[in-house]
Amino acid sequence: MKAALYAIGLALPGRRLVVNLSPADLPKEGSHFDLPIALAVLASLGVLPHDFLMRYVAMGELALDGGIMSVAGSLPAAIAANGRGLGLICPKSSGSEAAWAGEEIDILAPANLVQLINHVKGHQVLSPPKPALAEAAANQPDLRDIKGQESAKRALEVAAAGGHHLLMVGPPGAGKSMLAQRLPSILPPLDPREMLDISMIASLAGELGEGKLSRVRPFRNPHHSASMPALVGGGLRAKPGEMALAHHGVLFLDELPEFQSRVLESLRQPLETGETVVARANYHVTYPARFQLVAAMNPCRCGMAGTPGHVCRQGPRCAADYQGRISGPLLDRLDIQIELAAVRASDLTLRRQRK
Ligand SMILES: Nc1ncnc2c1ncn2[C@@H]1O[C@H](COP(=O)(O)OP(=O)(O)O)[C@@H](O)[C@H]1O
Ligand SMILES: [Mg+2]
Repeated sequence: MKAALYAIGLALPGRRLVVNLSPADLPKEGSHFDLPIALAVLASLGVLPHDFLMRYVAMGELALDGGIMSVAGSLPAAIAANGRGLGLICPKSSGSEAAWAGEEIDILAPANLVQLINHVKGHQVLSPPKPALAEAAANQPDLRDIKGQESAKRALEVAAAGGHHLLMVGPPGAGKSMLAQRLPSILPPLDPREMLDISMIASLAGELGEGKLSRVRPFRNPHHSASMPALVGGGLRAKPGEMALAHHGVLFLDELPEFQSRVLESLRQPLETGETVVARANYHVTYPARFQLVAAMNPCRCGMAGTPGHVCRQGPRCAADYQGRISGPLLDRLDIQIELAAVRASDLTLRRQRK
């Protein structure tokens, strides 16, 4: 902060500065306190008026040259600030994200300290940021790429219509991963309320690209080596995990039995309650997590059990052991369970369907 103030031509007074972050019993972490601390110092130096700052919530990271760098969570911050009748000062790059909180909110999104000071002094007024909508990806995978597998496609449609959890079991190459990736293409677009909900979660995770919101439902596809905090949430700032990021969308777990059993069992509670809880020593964070679970697995370790003409080297135990890794209570929660056969050669030579 000293370097940033020095860079914009302000020298700190020679006396000692005490910065007090209150309340003291609340754990505070993160670089977004840089800007508020700098603003408080500017006010104490008389560069910015006190009563101006009292009307705003501020967040942002300071660069050594006085630039204000983006931080996660500006959308929920804008909503919370508005709830208290305050405006928001946030980095320029987070402005369009914060603007989704509503038109009436006074949002200042300067790129650096100089712009903010000029705005307050009336030299150069900042224009309010505009909410931006991300363009829908043009080449989203489409269900019509799938040849044959009529019953699996039907099951996918039923799952999409009813929001049912789905388990697909079949040999490698049957098209399980392919089918799951095409589920978002037949789901309805998000309504504005849902869009705001999931954007707040994505904002906290720092995953809103350029602050643009998207109307496409989330499709989260964590690798089977994913840890428990990666799914449930946690880490340095109790960030939301994959389950929360899949809220109002799809959580796809490919190769389900390969996930750690602890991770799989942690799915059970959110599937019931629609929430995940990140527990910390002195506080809990609850994230909404109402996702549609889609899982895919091979029927056995070698992958071919049940295919006509195939005999597993380990006999029937091969399939029993592999499928036994999924607990009964978890299987119970998967409403639709289908078995896929390998795609037929005659189906693969079919032309791509028009609709
Ligand atoms: N029904 C299908 N129609 C068209 N291509 C298919 C089909 N099933 C499989 N494929 C092809 O096989 C590849 C592997 O499929 P994949 O979905 O990864 O299988 P799985 O996950 O069941 O092992 C796909 O990328 C696709 O090219
Ligand atoms: Mg696969």
